[in-house]
Amino acid sequence: MLASFALSLLLATLAVCDPKGHRWHHPLPTDRRSPCPGINALANHGYLPRHGLNISLAQFITGIREGYNFDAIFTADAVNSYQPFTTTGYNNTLNLNDLDHHSIPGEFDGSLSRNDLYFGDNHSFNQTIWNTVAAHFHHDTISIPVAARARLDRVTAAEAINPNFTASNVTSFGTSALYLQVMRGQYNATKTKYVQIFFREERIPFNEGYRRSNVSVGNEDIGQLALEIALASGCPDLECRAQNSSRTN
Ligand code: HEM
Repeated sequence: MLASFALSLLLATLAVCDPKGHRWHHPLPTDRRSPCPGINALANHGYLPRHGLNISLAQFITGIREGYNFDAIFTADAVNSYQPFTTTGYNNTLNLNDLDHHSIPGEFDGSLSRNDLYFGDNHSFNQTIWNTVAAHFHHDTISIPVAARARLDRVTAAEAINPNFTASNVTSFGTSALYLQVMRGQYNATKTKYVQIFFREERIPFNEGYRRSNVSVGNEDIGQLALEIALASGCPDLECRAQNSSRTN
């Protein structure tokens, strides 16, 4: 009896295994969040300040390294491109919702899980849009051709209904590369279950067994993966207008 109680307690403890000090919490109504599921998940686990306010480059670098093991150059390049749009009152910090800004390198139409600015809200997770992307994921893992097709179909659908459609294929390929890479963690394939949790709950799926990559990830890794997604979309490089290109499957 005592042994079975101890076993249940052990199993219950093992089932909840967010790293110490990094339990996932839903954001409070006053917390700021961004259009980026990667950044939001880090804030929801306390790798970035949970309030999402006044975050320095040093805090981004530490949080992104501890949470996902991406290197400082990757983070500095991304964060610095948003610094001109800060609303914190300081030129060296950002509120997470400052990342909503349109018409800068990172913001584009046809996002995988957000609507276009033309339709009002380019910030919040949109279940209907995400469902159209996730409908491509029929297996336990997501291959590059499947991610490429999911992205291409989403961009094509967005362009068909948005008269102000703004493409940024480099970034669009890059964000598909980001989810494939980050949710690959220590494994050699990206699990569909992890990707679903990452987008839908903005949670890092530690409880389901995810472990961050044990080698540091940088711009070269993301660039290479983005290029493979472009090639799988029938594009010769990252600059092409992929939604007009031929399909490979
Ligand atoms: C390892 C860290 C990161 C990961 C895994 C990640 C992942 C992603 C993913 C998967 C998307 C696509 C969302 C979608 O299409 O629905 C995205 C979008 C975005 N990310 Fe990140 N990201 C990371 C770091 C950053 C950083 C450091 C910044 C800027 C400081 C940033 C800013 C953005 C923005 C603004 C978008 C929205 C782009 C758009 O849809 O228009 N991300 N990110």
